[in-house]
Amino acid sequence: MSHDPARPRSRAAIALAILACATTAAIAATQSGAPKPDGAANTPAPAETIARGKYLVTIAGCNDCHTPLKMGPQGPEPDMDRMLSGHPASLVMPPPTKLPEGPWQVQIAATSTAFAGPWGVSYTANLTPDEDTGLGLWSLANFRDTLRTGKHLGRGRDILPPMPWPMYRNLTDADIEAVYSYLRTIPAIDNQVPEPVPPAG
Ligand code: HEC
Repeated sequence: MSHDPARPRSRAAIALAILACATTAAIAATQSGAPKPDGAANTPAPAETIARGKYLVTIAGCNDCHTPLKMGPQGPEPDMDRMLSGHPASLVMPPPTKLPEGPWQVQIAATSTAFAGPWGVSYTANLTPDEDTGLGLWSLANFRDTLRTGKHLGRGRDILPPMPWPMYRNLTDADIEAVYSYLRTIPAIDNQVPEPVPPAG
């Protein structure tokens, strides 16, 4: 067998090229930021599970922050045509006013869907099953891990205040599944919620 001096070099070159590709991919993955949801199963949950989820969503106050308020005859009321669809993309918020000294520390949009505080500005998420802008592609595990860890999909960025995940993390697995199952049955609303804004330096 004759020794071909070109071969090891080309192998090394291939190895280097693979390494370079892998590094580029790793950097691209970091830059594109958010992890992707795992995809949702299409099996509908039993009616009693969905009913339990609706009850929990109602009493846990998810609508208070995730459904925009609109002005009604008696004052602000939740706009149920936009139920649980998060901060409306059409409502572009100006920068918050500078935080005052003292105990008044949080500013809330008139819709109750955008919050400015020491953490910066946070916008409530679209919890409807829209696949592009809501939770449509979230698996049950994605949803459970988000509530349990306070991180997007359980492995992304930290979820900011005032989302009460430190309390909701105490939901049982069965109740988390019920909430998830109910949220899959509500009308999908196409609403791309803005990214949070870090605190002004
Ligand atoms: C006091 C206001 C408030 C209440 C009540 C609330 N949320 Fe949130 N929620 C938020 C805010 C604000 C965010 C966005 C935080 C961020 O961008 O970091 C959020 C984010 C989320 C996310 C994360 C979405 C993502 O893409 O990572 C989920 C899931 C969620 N909420 C579900 C719920 C459910 C279910 C309920 C009711 C059981 C609920 N929230 C009640 C304010 C609230």
